[in-house]
Amino acid sequence: MASLLLTNIAQLLAAYDSAPAVLRGKQMQNLPLIEQAYLLIEEDKIAAFGLMKDCELRADKEIDCSNRIVLPGFCDSHSHIVFAGDRSHELSLKNQGMDYQAIANAGGGILSTVKQVREVEEEELFDQSMQRLYDVISMGTLALEIKSGYGLDFDSELKMLRVIRRMKMESPIPIKATFLAAHAIPPEFTGNKEGYIQEIIEQMLPVVAKEGLADFIDVFCEQGYFTVTDTERILEAGSKRNLLGKVHVNQFNSIGGVQAAVDAKAISVDHLEEFTSVDLQAIRDSNTIAVGLPNCSLYLGIPYTPARLLIDENIAFALASDYNPGSSPSGNMQLVMALACIKMKLSTEEALLASTVNGAHAMSMAHTGSIALGQSANVIISKPIHSYRQFGYSFGANLVDHVIINGKTV
Ligand code: NIG
Ligand code: FE
Repeated sequence: MASLLLTNIAQLLAAYDSAPAVLRGKQMQNLPLIEQAYLLIEEDKIAAFGLMKDCELRADKEIDCSNRIVLPGFCDSHSHIVFAGDRSHELSLKNQGMDYQAIANAGGGILSTVKQVREVEEEELFDQSMQRLYDVISMGTLALEIKSGYGLDFDSELKMLRVIRRMKMESPIPIKATFLAAHAIPPEFTGNKEGYIQEIIEQMLPVVAKEGLADFIDVFCEQGYFTVTDTERILEAGSKRNLLGKVHVNQFNSIGGVQAAVDAKAISVDHLEEFTSVDLQAIRDSNTIAVGLPNCSLYLGIPYTPARLLIDENIAFALASDYNPGSSPSGNMQLVMALACIKMKLSTEEALLASTVNGAHAMSMAHTGSIALGQSANVIISKPIHSYRQFGYSFGANLVDHVIINGKTV
């Protein structure tokens, strides 16, 4: 059995007796930490860990982690990394005063990426997306959710989902796929949203489900996109095909989507930059995880999700990147954590656990996201740093030196 021993680890983070359930409230402040630790990996699993002074183990390969921190890989539960082209020109429009909706109304936005995705060959889309995947892996993302939603017709949505399926097969890290045909109304259905919803439910969804192309279903529930009633219908259709909801809600307006998603037993509600007391009542006491996307708030200049309130109210909270060409052109989870600490007032402990343990739960990947016996050996070895607190503080830096994926150094 191949074995790998990490020795002299300055701080081993998120090391639990057994893999934790989703964390809430005060549990988020308790980051289990072992100083001067070792970690043994056998094959692709965590096999032992503890104090270095008690370590008498030997392994096929050993890595001296003096002055370095070892932690679970980041679990990014919300991304749109499969896309073609970019929208860098929108930044100057934004700087001239146009907001996200105005840019979309002027021919930019989601539909401009849709045009490019429809035109690109599947192979090229795969290559571009794999490049982005390796970029985020090098910054510590070791589990990832990826959405469709830039095809918006039968062939192009399936093309995106086939690219994600191939990424699942060829990627070293675990990936989950989300079907997001309800991301915008495509041009062919302008003025006929009902026709498009029928196309999603009656034409696309049965094939997506039959071919096992998605793990989750998503809807952009927002003024000018899909209403609460549309969201309910689409989530219900997904649920009949065993697809749990992961819903874009409250990015710009609070219109009742949180309640609809919670009622549909969505695994997560994502964005929540606008958040009212009605939304709080809706999500309180539910199992739905709230996902904050601070890179999107930074780029669009919109409010930050009230993560402090959510955690204090005992609501399960995860952080994710929302990596996409229009509202978050960055998949850097270290930036996400620093923004969570600087702008959302989270502690470093909370930001780390929201990006690992809870991120894994927000995509039904309980086998990863923490250090515990039997967990998948997906871990980060940091550059030489003094304390894990650097992760909430050194924004813009890449503190990741190397990563271990399924027990293999990458
Ligand atoms: O999560 N708001 C909806 N979807 C993405 C943005 C997609 C785009 O602008 O291309 C988001 O922010
Ligand atoms: Fe998104």
